[in-house]
Amino acid sequence: MLEVENLEVAYSRVIVAVQGVSLKVPEHSIVALLGTNGAGKSTTVRAISGFLPVDDADIRKGAIRFAGQSIRGLAPYDVARRGVVLVPERRKIFETLTVEENLRIAPRVGGSSAAGTIERLFGIFPVLAERRKQISGYLSGGERQMLAISQALLCNPKLLIVDELSLGLAPRLVKELMARLQELRETFKLSILLIEQDARSALAIADYGYILEGGRVVYEGTAEKLRGHGDVQEFYLGSGDGARTSYRDVKQYRRSRRWWG
Ligand SMILES: Nc1ncnc2c1ncn2[C@@H]1O[C@H](COP(=O)(O)OP(=O)(O)O)[C@@H](O)[C@H]1O
Ligand SMILES: [Mg+2]
Repeated sequence: MLEVENLEVAYSRVIVAVQGVSLKVPEHSIVALLGTNGAGKSTTVRAISGFLPVDDADIRKGAIRFAGQSIRGLAPYDVARRGVVLVPERRKIFETLTVEENLRIAPRVGGSSAAGTIERLFGIFPVLAERRKQISGYLSGGERQMLAISQALLCNPKLLIVDELSLGLAPRLVKELMARLQELRETFKLSILLIEQDARSALAIADYGYILEGGRVVYEGTAEKLRGHGDVQEFYLGSGDGARTSYRDVKQYRRSRRWWG
């Protein structure tokens, strides 16, 4: 459904943040894009959703296709109209408005009646229903993420891209939100591209994953394969001693151990 091919992105025309990234999100799948801070995850998804100009960045190479058509270089609104909707990292909500007002003013595309969908969202996130008349500034971190996801759903996405859902949230809450995303895939017939540093949580619900480092995909495979992969476990799933700073280091270390040890 989404195909990114050999994508290269530069900030201010000089700083290359993404170099030759290719990835696919098939219909009705959950795909994880994993990597540590600065790996190029947000840059990749901002390129897909049309937000690069905001940061003086541009696509230097590559193709981005959705449902067989090129969406490379389209403005965010046009990308959203085709069904690709981003919940950005550290998404801001309007803190002085109520939960319900935040949903009513959310930009939406497609023909469904807003009220109907808002009630449906309240059914999925009962906490938001309970707090619909409350000022959003008082919501917890998890509830804010639910609100941000709900706003994105009002755009009738076919592909929902969620950037760092887990940021600053307790593990138990992350687990619950991930489970909710799985439900949303069924309810709304979605595909989901999940951007995460928290590999464990993402791989728990993903079908397939890519590991990004230094702007390149260094490893990819089914979630099952990634979960069982020694290097991935050691570096991303925290079973190692934490001395190595990157997935590449882990690979290097293993190779040297094979040679010398
Ligand atoms: N607005 C920007 N201007 C210049 N460089 C940026 C900007 N945003 C991100 N970068 C750089 O691009 C690289 C990738 O960043 P980013 O895509 O945000 O990584 P991630 O989301 O994986 O943490 C980093 O080296 C970062 O410093
Ligand atoms: Mg990021």
